[in-house]
Amino acid sequence: MRHDLELGYLGVEVPDPATLTPFFAEVVGLVPGEPAADAGTLTWRNDDRAYRLIVEPGAANDATFVGLEAAHAGSFDRVVERLRRAGHEVSSGSAEEAAARRVRRLASAAAPWGVRVEIVEAIESAPVPFASPLMPGGFLTEGVGFGHTVFATTAFDESHAFLVDGLGFSQSDWLEMQVAEGIVLEVRFYHCNARHHTMALARAPFDLPQKLHHVMVEANDFNDVGAAFDRAWATDLALPMGLGLHDNDRMFSFYVASPAGFLVEVGSGARTITEPWTDNRVYDATSVWGHKPMRAGA
Ligand SMILES: [Fe+2]
Repeated sequence: MRHDLELGYLGVEVPDPATLTPFFAEVVGLVPGEPAADAGTLTWRNDDRAYRLIVEPGAANDATFVGLEAAHAGSFDRVVERLRRAGHEVSSGSAEEAAARRVRRLASAAAPWGVRVEIVEAIESAPVPFASPLMPGGFLTEGVGFGHTVFATTAFDESHAFLVDGLGFSQSDWLEMQVAEGIVLEVRFYHCNARHHTMALARAPFDLPQKLHHVMVEANDFNDVGAAFDRAWATDLALPMGLGLHDNDRMFSFYVASPAGFLVEVGSGARTITEPWTDNRVYDATSVWGHKPMRAGA
């Protein structure tokens, strides 16, 4: 595996970005990021980068873009070149677009699952180090990026090819789980650095209301996951999966529904990718224990 990319940021669009503020600040434990160019846009961070999550006002009520940050000198050009060689149209971002994202360089391409993928170099640091009273141990991002994102798509095979052939991700493993009579859920997990998966794709039988299934942030201390679960439990938000341990990445985590509908997974302690990776296997259950449905939304 060549470590060229890390998840830099996620962009979501909701009618009123401020409606997500109590959720990100008081439940998940993120802190506000540096201001965006547009005053209606709010940003959030989970480490020393200027931002990791961009919440724009708009009708989509879904993720609209994902930023992948070049990890090393040469990574940006290598990834752009690889995408073009794989037949994808890559637009070079203007200086204004790069400045708006607080990056040195930006290029973008349309991912088959329906979001814009931005390849960026050198996301600015925030002026003050990350500190969250609700997440005293902080988040694991060094060398592995913001977290991971999981998208559902009917364009599954094209999306797989875009990730693997275009962006250079490698498949970590895949899930084939019978969820009802004759219905098999297929999810494939992909890495681009030591994080077990930075992206995953679920094969959707038809277009779903939201492409973004969930975004995951990884706490350094598993006690911070428990405390976050208590905070989520004290709200009336849906908890589709209570505390549990995933089979494939061995993540101890839970899932809470954001007020916008997409889920946030708060986890800790996942195993990492080691080379040579010999565990690209199929498995048939998401979890070793737990992750049971806890509560429908109010
Ligand atoms: Fe996840």
